[in-house]
Amino acid sequence: MARTSRFPGFYKITVEERRQLVSESTGTSPEEIASALHHGGLSAETADKFVENVLGTYALPYGVCLNVRVNHHDYVVPMVVEEPSVVAAASSAAKMIRAGGGFEAEVDAPLMTSQIQLTHVADVPAAMAAILRYKKEILALADRAIPGLVQRGGGARSLDVRPLGTAEDRMLVVHIHVDCRDAMGANLVNTVAEAVADRLAALAAGRVGLRILTNLCDKRCVRVTCRVPAAELATETMSGEEVIDGIVNASRFAELDPYRAATHNKGVMNGIDAVTIATGNDWRAVEAGAHAFAARTGHYSPLVVWRRSETSHHGAGVLVGRLEMPMALGTVGGTLRVHPAARLSLQMLGVTGAGDLAQIAASVGLANNLSAVRALATDGIQRGHMALHARSVAVAAGAVGGMVERVAQMIVEARDVTLEAAKRALDVARASADVVAVETD
Ligand code: MEV
Repeated sequence: MARTSRFPGFYKITVEERRQLVSESTGTSPEEIASALHHGGLSAETADKFVENVLGTYALPYGVCLNVRVNHHDYVVPMVVEEPSVVAAASSAAKMIRAGGGFEAEVDAPLMTSQIQLTHVADVPAAMAAILRYKKEILALADRAIPGLVQRGGGARSLDVRPLGTAEDRMLVVHIHVDCRDAMGANLVNTVAEAVADRLAALAAGRVGLRILTNLCDKRCVRVTCRVPAAELATETMSGEEVIDGIVNASRFAELDPYRAATHNKGVMNGIDAVTIATGNDWRAVEAGAHAFAARTGHYSPLVVWRRSETSHHGAGVLVGRLEMPMALGTVGGTLRVHPAARLSLQMLGVTGAGDLAQIAASVGLANNLSAVRALATDGIQRGHMALHARSVAVAAGAVGGMVERVAQMIVEARDVTLEAAKRALDVARASADVVAVETD
């Protein structure tokens, strides 16, 4: 089978059948998938090497987002997330976006930034001039601290310096921008910060303060756009043109109101975090970068903006979405070395490096946002959410196998998605199953 991310009816088949299909498309065998995901992919013994005071592990569902096409390549995208409907929402929006040609993505060079704070600086302008004069020497000192990265083609690229506060603060901060290649880079830039700090303090005739990366890695941004033809967006009760207007309206709401922007961005991060976790990356770092970037102008803003396109699709409207945000993801080092499920994710994705992964994660975030704003601008979010949430409620009530779907459907129809209602529905469903069994005996 050629590499594809289109699997119609995927949600209806069993877990084993899904593994088989994904294996045919990605070249990862079903045995590899099963073994990497066994018990969530992590034994207590391995977990004990990760963190301290380990008692065990905590598993989360591992699903795949379908229909994703980024820069004309198909990807089956792993997502680790506990919230019902996130994977389904991303897959269905990715299908609409695919109809408009898929995601167009671009990514900056993988530059991460070390921050070195200098305090007790007697003459801040003179200190800044001295540091800039010795820029070359400092960058070389930084490179000497990270020889492995330099060998892989990365290393310190540039330096800048800023005064902080007022003259009384006598404080400045030096930024060293380091090309981290396919690593997320936190350890590398922290090493650089510590390696150059003393020399910087000497040049500034001041004292060393903090030495650490910044998670606002705005030199490592990803940008994704998509174009969705109106017909793809239509619902049973609204035309595609009306839905475009509704989504642009939703976008304007997020652009004008930080309270709405926070929720809008939470929807974006639903997808991005799920891919970040599935690939063994640091989702707190990605979250920190995302929200700091969203607030960079002083007005907290949406990471994704939607507009009606100036050009049409066969005379009909087109919705255009655009995402921009920092994305510090790695495909080497860290958790990846030790977590079999994270390695499986990269193998299934078949990415060549961190840049590809950033583009894919951001595309899934854009898809989740489209799905959310389309639902909010049309039927409201609860209808779809409740239908999926009902399944976990049915499981919690004790339903297994085919009973899960049946009980879920009953409680949704009754508009009572509660544990008590599910228990009652399960009793009814079991009783009628017994009757059917007796009748067919
Ligand atoms: C829920 O996880 C995410 C949403 O609230 C996002 C949004 O409101 O755009 C549906």
